[in-house]
Amino acid sequence: MKAAITATAKYLPDSVLSNRDLEKLLDTTDEWIVARTGITERRILRDPEKATSYMCGEVARQLLEKRGIEAGEIELIIVATMTPDMLFPSTACLTQSIIGAVNAWAFDLNAACSGFVFALNTAARFIESGAHKKIMVIGADKMSSVLDFSDRSTAILFGDGAGGVILEPAGEEGYGILDSRMYSDGTTGKEHLYMLAGGSRHPASHETIDNRMHFIRQDGRQVFKSAVISMADVAEEIMKRNSLQAENIAYLVPHQANQRIINATAERMGVDHTKVVSNVARYGNTTAGTIPICLAELDEQGKLHRGSNLILVSFGAGYTWGGIYMKWQ
Ligand code: UT7
Repeated sequence: MKAAITATAKYLPDSVLSNRDLEKLLDTTDEWIVARTGITERRILRDPEKATSYMCGEVARQLLEKRGIEAGEIELIIVATMTPDMLFPSTACLTQSIIGAVNAWAFDLNAACSGFVFALNTAARFIESGAHKKIMVIGADKMSSVLDFSDRSTAILFGDGAGGVILEPAGEEGYGILDSRMYSDGTTGKEHLYMLAGGSRHPASHETIDNRMHFIRQDGRQVFKSAVISMADVAEEIMKRNSLQAENIAYLVPHQANQRIINATAERMGVDHTKVVSNVARYGNTTAGTIPICLAELDEQGKLHRGSNLILVSFGAGYTWGGIYMKWQ
């Protein structure tokens, strides 16, 4: 039995940080940001008391409500994040505590921007094996907590946000998650996108703070090149493996890092721009949040119909990338 999504939800903080706001902080312009990334604004979780688990809790509560189930029915919670509240306990355990999912086991999965796709694929195996019947998968990142607001090359790209789904056995054969391909390349990836300090290699010290090592560092040009090639490759592979033509695809749901990367992926697949989901203009890159937020928006807009073919594709730090093909049930 395949695994199918039975509920979707999203949470975006209210506070908007626009490109015009960033112009006041950095040597940048709205025109540059829009032309190079497609981003106009992003959301920021400003309350210092609130961290990633807060956004997960908001998503989890909505998921339970939408599906009409009790927290005690959830058997597993996977939170994909690279900005956990703290190194341990996991943000998944904190989320479990927020909603009172006392019968679940819970763990975090870190695959950066590919976190949700990796987590969804992992959760699907637990459904397919018959081990579990109700799994919550959430992708959430408070990127503002690791952004250097004096670095114009990264500060403009990211935002805070979360999205999630409930995964259950598909009601009928031929529906749900039908195929997936996941990849990592730690050799190339570790050079170009990372946060050096805060782990066991560089624990927090005066030196790590003075050297601004608790922030994201990225070689944008290198990451851009790899993202364009890898997302398009995996999308094409998924189409070939499942004999899918562009016209059979209802929606391409790509990771939202940069509109130019999204366009390049869609172009290689031959998918018409009307079928390409994009909200990068409004939210920027919410890392593990992007794809489940897109799914929740499609769902809210009533665009997901029984039999709709969806392809999800992601690329992120590691490097990590992957694609999932699902038929909506
Ligand atoms: O989701 C995780 C994976 N991450 C990504 O997918 C991000 C991938 N990379 C990108 O999206 C793009 O590389 C960026 C948007 C980060 C940068 O766009 P780019 O077209 O690759 O620009 P660039 O880095 O080649 O920089 C071009 C110029 C440089 O000036 P010079 O050296 O040509 O004089 C930069 O210093 O633009 C300058 N620049 C800026 N100018 C105004 C860099 N950032 C800014 C800025 N405002 N914010």
